[in-house]
This record gives sequence, structure tokens and C-alpha cells, in this order.
Amino acid sequence: MAGALALACLALAAHAQQTCRPGDLGCAIFIGEHPLHAHLRDDNRALPSSTTRCVNCHAATPDAAASAAFAPPLTHDALLGETRRRGGPPSHYDAAAFCRALENGVDPAGVILRKAMPRYQPSDAECAALWRFVTSR
Ligand code: HEC
Repeated sequence: MAGALALACLALAAHAQQTCRPGDLGCAIFIGEHPLHAHLRDDNRALPSSTTRCVNCHAATPDAAASAAFAPPLTHDALLGETRRRGGPPSHYDAAAFCRALENGVDPAGVILRKAMPRYQPSDAECAALWRFVTSR
């Protein structure tokens, strides 16, 4: 039941209308208009791009973040704030730590992210654009 509810929430989030300003690459990646190559930990098969949009699992807007429990909010305050993540010591992200988490699945305190968070292979420009987008909201 809880699983079905979670899936329904994900489906709703995935279908929430969201548009990006023209030329906002970070936003386009976040909502899946500009797909990134991704796979799951311990599994090198490419995931279908419909499953790898950040907005599928992370709240679409900061306001929605409070109610979306599946994945942590990706906002300025959540990423830059010094906070305990996954039981590790207090840590915060910077652009380099954010890109490392996307690529290697390790947070700034060295804690490994759950398998549900895909591993991405963004270019430097894609990662920088994504970082700008999530820290601007
Ligand atoms: C299929 C679901 C899913 C997708 C798609 C997804 N994530 Fe995640 N993400 C998660 C989960 C679940 C966690 C929490 C992992 C944990 O706590 O161990 C997470 C954690 C994170 C974290 C760590 C946050 C923190 O506070 O430490 C970052 C950063 C992140 N995701 C970025 C992204 C970005 C950027 C995208 C899109 C390019 C994305 N995620 C797509 C599920 C997903």
C-alpha cells in the first residue's frame, strides 16, 4: 500500500507541469528535457531517460519539498546548509561536492547514497548548470 502510494506520488510529480526559461540548461536537465546518461550503482546498463529526470524523485519546487519524502530537497538552503545527512557528520555541498555526488554517489561527508539515486555522467558544463539551477531556488 505504502509502495503504491509512493509510486502514485512519483507519477504525479513526473507529470507536474513545469517549464524552463529558454536557455536554462540546469532546469532542462532537472525536468528531463535535456537527458543525462545514467545507471544504478553496481549495474552499468544505461537507465531509460524517462526514469532519470531529477524531478521524478526530488520535489519540483521548494514549496513542494516539504511533502515529497522520497528524496531530499535540492534547494539553496538544503544543499548549502550545514546539516547531518544520512547519519554522517554535519556537511554542506559546493559545486565540486555536488558533481561528485552525481557521478560517484558519495555525499560531502563521504557517506554513500542509497542505490535509488542514479549515477550520472554529466559534462562539466551540464553539472555547473544544474548546480546553478538548484542553488538559485
Ligand atoms: C529515481 C529517483 C531519483 C532520481 C531520478 C534522482 N535522484 Fe537524487 N536522490 C534520490 C534519493 C533516494 C536520494 C537520497 C539518497 C540517500 O539518502 O541515501 C537522492 C539524493 C540526492 C542528492 C544528495 C542530497 C543530500 O542532501 O545529500 C543529490 C545532490 C541528488 N540526489 C541530486 C540529484 C540530481 C541532480 C538528479 C537529476 C540529475 C537526481 N538526484 C535524480 C533519488 C533520485
